[in-house]
Amino acid sequence: MCGIVGIVGNQPVAGRLVDALKRLEYRGYDSAGVATIVDGALARRRAEGKLFNLEKRLAEEPLAGTIGIAHTRWATHGAPTEGNAHPHFVDGVAVVHNGIIENFSELKDELIADGATFSTQTDTEVVAQLLAKYRRDGLGRREAMHAMLRRVTGAYALAVIFADDPSTIMAARSGPPLAIGHGHGEMFLGSDAIALAPFTNEISYLVDGDWAILGRDGAHIFDMDGNRVERPKQVSSAAAYLIDKGNHRHFMEKEIHEQPEAISHALGHYVDFLEHAVRPVAGGIDFAKVPSLAISACGTAYLAGLVGKYWFERYARLPVEIDVASEFRYREIPLNPESAALFISQSGETADTLASLRYCKEHGLKIGAVVNTRESSIARESDAVFPILAGPEIGVASTKAFTCQLTVLAALAIGAGKARGTLTAADEKALVRHLAEMPRVMAGVLNTIQPSIEQLARDLSKCKDVLYLGRGTSYPLAMEGALKLKEISYIHAEGYAAGELKHGPIALIDENMPVIVIAPHDRFFEKTVSNMQEVAARGGRIIFITDAKGAAASKLETMATIVLPDVDEVIAPMIYSLPIQLLAYHTAVFMGTDVDQPRNLAKSVTVE
Ligand code: M6R
Repeated sequence: MCGIVGIVGNQPVAGRLVDALKRLEYRGYDSAGVATIVDGALARRRAEGKLFNLEKRLAEEPLAGTIGIAHTRWATHGAPTEGNAHPHFVDGVAVVHNGIIENFSELKDELIADGATFSTQTDTEVVAQLLAKYRRDGLGRREAMHAMLRRVTGAYALAVIFADDPSTIMAARSGPPLAIGHGHGEMFLGSDAIALAPFTNEISYLVDGDWAILGRDGAHIFDMDGNRVERPKQVSSAAAYLIDKGNHRHFMEKEIHEQPEAISHALGHYVDFLEHAVRPVAGGIDFAKVPSLAISACGTAYLAGLVGKYWFERYARLPVEIDVASEFRYREIPLNPESAALFISQSGETADTLASLRYCKEHGLKIGAVVNTRESSIARESDAVFPILAGPEIGVASTKAFTCQLTVLAALAIGAGKARGTLTAADEKALVRHLAEMPRVMAGVLNTIQPSIEQLARDLSKCKDVLYLGRGTSYPLAMEGALKLKEISYIHAEGYAAGELKHGPIALIDENMPVIVIAPHDRFFEKTVSNMQEVAARGGRIIFITDAKGAAASKLETMATIVLPDVDEVIAPMIYSLPIQLLAYHTAVFMGTDVDQPRNLAKSVTVE
């Protein structure tokens, strides 16, 4: 969840390290720091909070040096203070770390008993302390690194420099991703290829258990037994990504408005618009033969998977087992090796999702990855990769990745239905025609609903609690609406299946808690209206998100009604995502929160 970078260069590195950190700030923004070697000694600047604080520090007190490592933190152990900010120094060793050292407490006790004095509350400091101890014991730098790696357990991407070697960075990976960038007379290290994009597009990815020594002329990579291994160089497309806000106030706003285009890209990959057919999926999973499907993911990606479950079961008659990855990985689910499993992740690096993937792989299932980052760990470890083609998503709140995930899952479910003979060619044509309408319908919605959403957001920003309700695929959407709202506006919100209202949450209904009902005029509509009546009868205030038919059919008085175009059930989840995203966005803007980097969160969650 932190971001790390390193440069062993031939010109000053501090500025370039901070530039690279900016591209990693989505991974955490509690504190940041940079360390270099100047005249045979370690030097560093650190600052609490976002990167601009570190930039300010560096402007006041510049840092020389042509080799360095840097870090942007999402705190796990120890408060987000400057003292706990990386890089950590111990006796000429500097370390930056992304992940969690699980046996840090036992190692710390052992090191303290051996005379070490700790100056931070972080788990990472044990890495620096161990390296320093091994050096004091007489080991060379490489031997010390290898010995340290044999002692630590847990998840880590590490970068290390030693004051007495201004021409080498050491790195190691167990879990979180780590990319090596190849330059001309310079070498780079980063948590992802996007961080390194301004410097190079030639990338080698370390695999779990690898460690590496980077000099100015290249890198030597080793496995845990110390044997040399080769990792191929790949040409990364990360440099092509334009990372700016354009005319928008926030990345989130930009990404919401990019959805018609992003979805067009995704559709173009999965759908033949001339034939109105889904394209055959890449090898690896034969949906015609699998007896069932497992789906696992976290957060918004999990909610996309939940919508996908409805589609796979309805269109392909394929039973789906789904759970959030943090539960899935430990539930000891009896899995059928003939089945397939899908893992959904924007970043492709989410630790729990990756662990669930490995669990399914061990049990012999075919693995599919629905990812935005094709070079990610989840993609690399899968038999079939289904890219969502959303382009870089910078806002911590997932928006366009969600609707692109939905688009890909819809296409896969239709393809599975066709392969299994549960959809006829005519069904497929009709469904694909609806999918093809999506970009146009979305663009229309984005152009028209803004004023009513802004008005409503002003009211919501005064509320303490909000309830979202929905049925069918609108139920996961209700949960997504609640997640989005709490994530960026910090208003407490819950999403419920509308039918569950009377089994508990109805007790909360009063005039202070708006109830947002997502109800297109579909086969569940009448039932949902009955639930709305239950809310109205108890003085609850309803915000109704529906279509023209739904608005005409319901005679209930609402606090507001947002009317969307009449669309087919298969694209309703994508279209109804727009008002819930915009509602969260504008509420957060009214409340003055940090929309793109909400408190306590990070975009890529590489710890358990
Ligand atoms: O990168 P992933 O899709 O695996 O991330 C999963 C969740 O952390 C993510 O969707 C999170 O819930 C979002 N911030 C929600 O907007």
